[in-house]
Amino acid sequence: MVQEPIRVGLMGLGTVGSGVVRLVKNHREDLFHRSGRRISIEKILVRDKEKERSVQVDPALLTDRPEEILQDQRIDLVVEVMGGIEPAYSCIRQALEGGKHVVTANKDLMALHGTELLTIAREKGCDLFYEASVAGGIPILRALTEGLSSDRITAIMGIVNGTTNYILTEMTRKGTPFADSLAQAQDLGYAEADPTADVEGLDAARKMVILANLGFHTHLSLEEVSVRGITDVTTEDIRFAGQLGYVLKLMGIAKRDEGRVEVSVQPALLSEEHPLATVDGVFNAVYVHGEAVGETMFYGPGAGEMPTATAVVSDLVTVVKNMGLGVNGRGIVAPYCEKRWKSSREIFAKHFLRLRLADEAGVMAGLTGIFAEEAVSLEKVLQVPVSRGDEAEIVLITHTASQHQLEAVLHRLDEMPAVRRLMSHYRVEGGEG
Ligand code: NAP
Ligand code: HSE
Repeated sequence: MVQEPIRVGLMGLGTVGSGVVRLVKNHREDLFHRSGRRISIEKILVRDKEKERSVQVDPALLTDRPEEILQDQRIDLVVEVMGGIEPAYSCIRQALEGGKHVVTANKDLMALHGTELLTIAREKGCDLFYEASVAGGIPILRALTEGLSSDRITAIMGIVNGTTNYILTEMTRKGTPFADSLAQAQDLGYAEADPTADVEGLDAARKMVILANLGFHTHLSLEEVSVRGITDVTTEDIRFAGQLGYVLKLMGIAKRDEGRVEVSVQPALLSEEHPLATVDGVFNAVYVHGEAVGETMFYGPGAGEMPTATAVVSDLVTVVKNMGLGVNGRGIVAPYCEKRWKSSREIFAKHFLRLRLADEAGVMAGLTGIFAEEAVSLEKVLQVPVSRGDEAEIVLITHTASQHQLEAVLHRLDEMPAVRRLMSHYRVEGGEG
């Protein structure tokens, strides 16, 4: 018996939506063999029906009315690639409540409303997949939910924003200042027209919330994540980091020890030995440490039309397979671990500090005395020449210390008259403790 095709309502025909149309067309036979059903895109929601499109579609498929998809009983599955919170949230909710499966690439939405939408999907026996929302073409969500499902994940560290990784790579390789590197990223089409969410770390934070919730089986909210972007990173910071054997990256860091979690996004120094240190340009990578498996790393393109479309269409294939097995919605695991954040006494890392000091006798002794009194040991110290004759610049890396100890040191440095300025401060990952 020839089965009916799976009928898809596509919401959005921009970068990702066009890739989805192309992939469904170009891989038609493979997709049929792998899923057992033909895929038919029945309707496409856009804002402007008259706009010229980069992909050829039958104009009769285009609509600017979401209800033409949401109220069409023949449509089995909605692919949401519009972006933003509204109307995407209402459309996905309505689709699930109407018994339609959903595939989305929307990290903004899944970071904010993921748990709620997944609960609705489970109750309705619908699938809700969102592989493309984190790290574009890298199948990292599937790796966490399937490949590593037998393990207990202890750390997820990611370079999950291509724009900032491109900017920092340009600053590192060519010494191009931040503003010029950002302009290049925009010219090359990597950064958004408004790149604020990229450079302020919010885009990475959304992705880290999704990763941490899946990896740690809990329900963390975006506003609880500590976020710092790269706007105040300088080429001098990167140069000094290099002299000490480190590279500077915008890092998403999620760790779990004895049931307590920390999640942050920040520019951080990464030992040149760390597997993530060589991830350059617009590429993304996610490093996952599991108790049993040890270190793993997933690398690839974090954005772009076709890489992102592969993730969307793979989700679509999984929905079709689940339909064949009658198991839609059953793979969604509700968060079962209590949310317990680490206190500042439980977050440990090494730290990099650049300080301008008065160039006077006894100042170094006073400075190292503060670190000693707070029980923070120093791993590396560099003194570098500065143009002002009455000042000295000290660049140092501590051994592992708690966040609480570091805050105590910073507070005391702030009160020390000979410390003229804290030039920069970054967390350090990798290398010896
Ligand atoms: P995009 O190029 O801006 O395309 C958005 C599409 O949605 C456009 O076709 C637009 O219609 C349509 N749309 C937007 N708001 C609408 C509304 N209110 N009503 C009807 N149609 C509406 O966006 P994109 O880059 O493809 O991104 C889509 C999603 O994928 C986002 O959630 C994004 O975060 C995610 N994502 C993107 C990438 C990437 O590389 N681009 C990577 C990973 C994840 P018009 O064409 O008529 O304006
Ligand atoms: N602006 C994002 C980035 C796009 O630069 O990684 C992919 O989510």
